[in-house]
Amino acid sequence: MFEALVMSDEEFRLYQKLIYDVVGINFTENKKQLLVSRLRKRLEVQGMGSYAEYRKFVVDPHNSDEFVQMINVISTNKTDFFREPQHFDFLKSHVYPSLGKKNKIRIWSAASSSGEELYTLAITLLEAIGSVRGKDVKILGTDISTKVLDEAEQGIYSDESVSPIPEPLLKKYFLKGQGRWNGHYLVREELKELISFRRLNLMQPFPLKGLFDFIFCRNVMIYFDKPTREELVAKLANQLQPGGYLFIGNAESLSGLKTTLKYVQPAIYQRVH
Ligand SMILES: C[S@@+](CC[C@H](N)C(=O)[O-])C[C@H]1O[C@@H](n2cnc3c(N)ncnc32)[C@H](O)[C@@H]1O
Repeated sequence: MFEALVMSDEEFRLYQKLIYDVVGINFTENKKQLLVSRLRKRLEVQGMGSYAEYRKFVVDPHNSDEFVQMINVISTNKTDFFREPQHFDFLKSHVYPSLGKKNKIRIWSAASSSGEELYTLAITLLEAIGSVRGKDVKILGTDISTKVLDEAEQGIYSDESVSPIPEPLLKKYFLKGQGRWNGHYLVREELKELISFRRLNLMQPFPLKGLFDFIFCRNVMIYFDKPTREELVAKLANQLQPGGYLFIGNAESLSGLKTTLKYVQPAIYQRVH
């Protein structure tokens, strides 16, 4: 039954618009096959015979759970520990020394995926400032995908995914799995205590109180078009402390966008006022 499933160009345009309007992700023509193969998994789970039937089903507000599942399958969640390491070098040399003197520290990973970026932030912060005892430290991880947020909250990673973590840090901040968990590592409570997770759609107004010392919003804007990026960057800038930094992915840039943020170095920007 599923072999015969095809998505017409008209149907693809309807999905394009639906996804763009809600999530901001711009599935261009050359991504049609990718979208088709990702959605197909959900059609199979729901036992549906056409993409049109599935689309009508997910847009029904009664089926909002399935909408969440659709987003889980269509989002690209690739991430790594210590990804784009020059950002962590910058934090060490330019940001953590002054954060270490503050009592209240607020950090946000705004498209945190399965948590590798968050835990890298927690590790590098602790390594730089030593103890956080007596300080009010919160690292917030948000993403639109509930699947990756669940993984992040669990904090269990394979041998392969922890490979970018230097051995002494791996020993210090992770527990090595035994028996059934052989080949896996569990994040220690010491890191987990600093972190909280919630689902947040970057396309909507941010339901966040307070400002952040710095924000990581890396490797997500690449899926958005220019007007969407411009609007998002303005919202992120408003969420920064004066002097706070925004980190974006190396393949991303704010050049050509209207923004109040000051360029510091590639993929790093600062709120001045
Ligand atoms: C490629 S991952 C990047 C993860 C991490 N920041 C990094 O650089 O390694 C992009 C993440 O953005 C999330 N995402 C996509 N659209 C989003 C939206 N509208 N709101 C919040 N998160 C979104 C995806 O679910 C995915 O986990």
